[in-house]
Amino acid sequence: MKVMVTGGAGFIGSHIVDALREKGAEVAVLDDFSSGRRENLPEGVRVYEVDVRDLPGVQAAFADFAPTHVSHQAAQISVAASVKDPLFDASVNVLGGLNVLEAARRVGVRHVVFASTGGAIYGEVPEGKRADESWPARPASPYAAAKAAFEHYLEVYRAQFGLRYAALRYGNVYGPRQDPHGEAGVVAIFARRLLAGEPVRVYARREKGDDGGVRDYVYVGDVVAANLLALEQGLEGVYNVAAGAGRSTREVLSAVARALEAEPEVEWAEVRPGDLERSVLEPARLRALGWEPATPFDQGIRRTVEWFKENDF
Ligand SMILES: NC(=O)c1ccc[n+]([C@@H]2O[C@H](COP(=O)([O-])OP(=O)(O)OC[C@H]3O[C@@H](n4cnc5c(N)ncnc54)[C@H](O)[C@@H]3O)[C@@H](O)[C@H]2O)c1
Repeated sequence: MKVMVTGGAGFIGSHIVDALREKGAEVAVLDDFSSGRRENLPEGVRVYEVDVRDLPGVQAAFADFAPTHVSHQAAQISVAASVKDPLFDASVNVLGGLNVLEAARRVGVRHVVFASTGGAIYGEVPEGKRADESWPARPASPYAAAKAAFEHYLEVYRAQFGLRYAALRYGNVYGPRQDPHGEAGVVAIFARRLLAGEPVRVYARREKGDDGGVRDYVYVGDVVAANLLALEQGLEGVYNVAAGAGRSTREVLSAVARALEAEPEVEWAEVRPGDLERSVLEPARLRALGWEPATPFDQGIRRTVEWFKENDF
């Protein structure tokens, strides 16, 4: 298997690169390093420093490496940023993605795995419910709309050009190497700020001072396992990748503070535009194939916190 990992220098992508190499796959990374880091990459991996919005650049990289498979992780990843600038979001997440698909079909790629979003695509998930893959997409932000649009394009490329795909709809992924400086990735943000002795901000779910939005937090190692399964077995269609449990921002903060034995100073903030109140998922289709979210939350938090203790970010 020859896999082109777009966004391979990023948080999730770099863990996928490591796991693929361990399995003996040939791997190349296509990344513009806008948030990805060279330190995330293993020695000797082939790197194409290319922006997915640059079609000739993407085509040249694909022609040079000639992958059989694509893991498309590159994206503008912030919901809040997509609300501020929907055109930029779509230029990377829709048009950039189409450049990848165009390049892929020209070199005869057999299968694409796409990093979609379960955390945003279903819109609000009512109390007591978990969204499985049979729920309709109800995007509530430009970010979610772009991911949903790209899933439609994948289906069209399958039907028109025979390019097979799996869209993995991740919950809120957390773990080592997550960027703690962005607007997404609350576990990483809390870990870094508590280690630096800085105050943390909790955005409201409805009203300032409440426990914050409820999300489905899934450990990166479990997300990587789902990606490997999708690539190795050539899975097709959409799959939720999630823990199947909801946690508020305040619960996440308590878990990180416990792991660090820290006393957080909290700034309570208003609801952020585009943010959902509650998103909890059921990974029904992956469970049916034997995949399980194997990492208990406290264990995942401990591993993440240990990593942030040992690595300056
Ligand atoms: N982290 C989560 O909770 C989560 C949840 C749902 C979906 N996702 C999706 O998973 C994927 C990986 O996210 P992540 O959390 O690892 O974020 P990340 O920012 O660490 O990784 C994204 C990578 O894409 C690269 N990139 C960004 N714009 C690019 C461009 N124009 N051209 C080329 N490369 C570009 C970045 O440099 C980075 O290496 C994304 O598609 C994201 O939307 C993440």
